[in-house]
Amino acid sequence: MTQEAHVTQGPLTTEAGAPVADNQNSETAGVGGPVLVQDQLLLEKLAHFNRERIPERVVHARGAGAYGTFTVTADVTKYTRAAFLSEVGKETEVFLRFSTVAGNLGAADAVRDPRGFAVKFYTEEGNYDLVGNNTPVFFIRDAIKFPDFIHTQKRDPYTGSQEADNVFDFWGLSPESTHQVTWLFGDRGIPASYRHMDGFGSHTYQWNNEAGEAFWVKYHFKTDQGIKNLTAEEAEVLAGKDPDSHQRDLREAIERGEFPSWTVSVQIMPVAEAATYRFNPFDLTKVWPHADYPLIEFGKLELNRNPENIFAEVEQSIFSPAHFVPGIGPSPDKMLQGRLFAYGDAHRYRVGINADHLPVNRPHATEARTHSRDGHLYDGRHKGAKNYEPNSFGGPFQTDRALWQPVALNGVTGETVTPVHAEDNDFVQAGNLYRLMTEDEKERLVNNLANAISGVTRDDIAERAINNFRQADEDFGKRLEAAVQALRG
Ligand code: HEM
Repeated sequence: MTQEAHVTQGPLTTEAGAPVADNQNSETAGVGGPVLVQDQLLLEKLAHFNRERIPERVVHARGAGAYGTFTVTADVTKYTRAAFLSEVGKETEVFLRFSTVAGNLGAADAVRDPRGFAVKFYTEEGNYDLVGNNTPVFFIRDAIKFPDFIHTQKRDPYTGSQEADNVFDFWGLSPESTHQVTWLFGDRGIPASYRHMDGFGSHTYQWNNEAGEAFWVKYHFKTDQGIKNLTAEEAEVLAGKDPDSHQRDLREAIERGEFPSWTVSVQIMPVAEAATYRFNPFDLTKVWPHADYPLIEFGKLELNRNPENIFAEVEQSIFSPAHFVPGIGPSPDKMLQGRLFAYGDAHRYRVGINADHLPVNRPHATEARTHSRDGHLYDGRHKGAKNYEPNSFGGPFQTDRALWQPVALNGVTGETVTPVHAEDNDFVQAGNLYRLMTEDEKERLVNNLANAISGVTRDDIAERAINNFRQADEDFGKRLEAAVQALRG
């Protein structure tokens, strides 16, 4: 649908529906006199305007969304009993919101930053949200570090700008970030558009089948448009010329009928293999090499409909990693566990307690049957139904079947470090990634990083940051050190 289709007919009215006589001149006491309080239209317009904004997302504030269809292309019922994955050819409506991470609502799209890739599957068993990124890994592995990390990506409390000192201080002191930072400053760090990048669930999740068997899975969305990136120089120009470049590209492609699509796969690890796998499978700073766990293709995701109203459907959309459906559940990944709390909490603050009643957020293929009631902007949907359970009036009832399978545990409580497996360290996969790159790619990576690090004002911070890359690969560190020295003089 294009904008021309949205024409409202009839006379202009107030919020209460009364016709408006004059929308150009406010009412005064005599010609040229002061304005009257009885001009309700004026007061209503000014008051409503003052309240147009809701708090922007604390991260991923800048984004664009579209509706589409997910289609099952291969049988995965031996791994999961999720109803929307129950047969080949089955289609499920989706809404996908892409985003950048660090920029505020008005920031430019063409910047070096991970991209959010948040998918809402409107399944018949409730909405399943997969809130991922365009990168398979992340900077940290424990949610307790997330607010500190994001503070270094956002504006400094004194200067009001993003500061290279803060960014590289945190990364230098958090060596587990080396893999993701190597990825981010490489060619894929600035996608050409939202259509030309892959998506990842990133975390490990649980799938479980009818028989009660559980599997650990990682999701991959491979772009059918092909990967296309911008160089640092191209991005600098585009970000200035068209700050909305990604958003515009997505909307216009869908308007042209060029529907972007992604081929969807999972890596599957039998639960019994997790304890002895060479990497900790619940450490979000690591990938599972495809040689160990190959991609199993099972679906196609296509975006084919633009939202009609950006505020209602994109700004107010909410995605939560805690929105699971039967057959899919969390893993013990400490980052994921923190996220299971953080998103619902953010939604209650940002959109309100009835956020999940909004058209974009509510289930589309079933209905929500809860005993929660009232709160801001409650629309009375439950009419006079009893609001407690158990009850003797035939209301909704519990199923006695958990969505996911229990996980075996041992040990005592404590503030514990993520367990280290045989080949785990903070640098091994960053080094592998570097060594996979062509000479040109290495050159661009080193230059991009050197340019960023050369903005650091303290030698110790710059040196510590460089040292992490040296530990990933001696050549990487040596070249980076030389490039930074050349730039800093
Ligand atoms: C413990 C670590 C993390 C915490 C506490 C956290 C917290 C948040 C919060 C509070 C929001 C804003 C939600 C809203 O206002 O609607 C958000 C957005 C988002 N986060 Fe995270 N995040 C974490 C890690 C991650 C990771 C690892 C990924 C990807 C793999 C990710 C992907 C996203 C995406 C895509 C959005 C935007 C969702 C949308 O489009 O509405 N986050 N995060």
